[in-house]
Amino acid sequence: MNILSVASEAFPLVKTGGLADVVGALPGALAAEGVRVRTLLPGYPAVLGALGAADEVWSFADLAGAPARLLAGTAGGLDILALDAPHLFARPGTPYAAPDGADWPDNAQRFAALARVGADIAGGMLADWRPAVAHAHDWQAALLAAYLHYAGTPVPSVLTVHNLAFQGQFPATLLAELGLPPHAYALDGVEYYGSIGFLKAGLLFADRITTVSPSYAAEIRSPEFGMGLQGLLRGRAADVRGILNGIDTAIWNPARDALLAAPFAAPSGRAANRAALQARLGLAPDLAAPLFAVVSRLTWQKGMDLLPAALPALLDEGGQLAVLGTGDAPIVAALQAAVAAHPGRIGCIIGYDEGLAHLMQGGADALLVPSRFEPCGLTQLCALRYGAVPVVARVGGLADTVIDASPMALAAGVATGVQFAPVSVEMLEAAIRRAAALHRAPDAWARMQTNGMATDVSWRDPARHYAALYRELAG
Ligand code: ADP
Ligand code: GLC
Repeated sequence: MNILSVASEAFPLVKTGGLADVVGALPGALAAEGVRVRTLLPGYPAVLGALGAADEVWSFADLAGAPARLLAGTAGGLDILALDAPHLFARPGTPYAAPDGADWPDNAQRFAALARVGADIAGGMLADWRPAVAHAHDWQAALLAAYLHYAGTPVPSVLTVHNLAFQGQFPATLLAELGLPPHAYALDGVEYYGSIGFLKAGLLFADRITTVSPSYAAEIRSPEFGMGLQGLLRGRAADVRGILNGIDTAIWNPARDALLAAPFAAPSGRAANRAALQARLGLAPDLAAPLFAVVSRLTWQKGMDLLPAALPALLDEGGQLAVLGTGDAPIVAALQAAVAAHPGRIGCIIGYDEGLAHLMQGGADALLVPSRFEPCGLTQLCALRYGAVPVVARVGGLADTVIDASPMALAAGVATGVQFAPVSVEMLEAAIRRAAALHRAPDAWARMQTNGMATDVSWRDPARHYAALYRELAG
């Protein structure tokens, strides 16, 4: 079965977050299910560079204002279709924003073009390749389902929501320019609070909606998590599925990870990584301190604004903290002030560093993930696999992937981490104190680590669920 996957990022070619990890890893896992995925990506410089010699399989005389080409090839282990449209994608910065951080003013045109080409491919534009199902990821690709609908193309579509907080809302005046018919501007169309809503349109028209954990699939029906789309999502409840993410267990394999100071197969082999992490972050070489780590966007979603206030409790427990992240300036400033106030106890690296992320997972005793909402979360899955005990908020995919060290779970020997709720400074402090107490009991701690390392966080099971969904839709 052929599937067209359409997304704005894919690891290892271009990544700003977990979306890229998912789009990059799922095709490989689906191959084992007999599903062949082609991934349509914008032709950013990084994508075209990795593609090297590629075949031109289509040319557009005018795509959103200038000529463009569709290139086919392989890159990063993926079967890629790259939309080579220099006027839209040949830019510095991230996929979404200029180097100064401002969103590109024509993001509507850029990602509508991506979605539209996806719909055209689904509709048979390439004579020798047609997908049975078109699978769009997040708002950047969501309009694909609307284009299929308005063109009357009978190809089933799936929209995966990785984060409902990012919706893609653009001025209504763009309707014609985006190639949408006048009647599309309606409640049962692309209209959304007086604008054009890309995600809203996708949620309305996709044949199936998936999101990246069962808990998040349920949460988004409520006003607290639905971000204004809860009504629409309740109406479509029968078509919504929660399928947990996995991680690429070949890239995230502690026994063969060249990014670690010392690869390891059991918790007892982590010590050299712990020491290397302390050295790298300027932390004292303390063997007893519970070493907490954060690998995260430093944002409100991730609960990172609560972290500075919880640090006195962490320090009071004799703990150390290592932070790797990028994000909001006030959070960065508060963390840097904490480093200055507690040298040797708190270390912080502001930046994006794939290699250091591996060392953090392989060296820290515990990983803190105090998210206010978390569609799935990948870092706690990496933590489990690397024997860093996840200390997480009980929301979304964090609730679904970590087994809290309750007295019963400890007695049964099945705990893998610590969960807390609701998300507040007090509850985060309590969770940190609980983790520190568990860390003082080496046998119980080692058992949690071993349980985590034995947890199946691979794509095998999720891929089966996606393959079953595709088959259901393809008939
Ligand atoms: P989100 O996509 O919401 O940011 P996820 O947990 O799903 O959160 O995915 C985040 C991904 O980005 C993980 O692969 C994580 O390891 C990685 N990551 C986040 N921040 C950094 C950073 N500063 N350096 C390296 N990797 C990071
Ligand atoms: C989003 C979510 C995160 C999820 C990732 C991949 O970035 O915030 O929870 O793991 O997408 O699905």
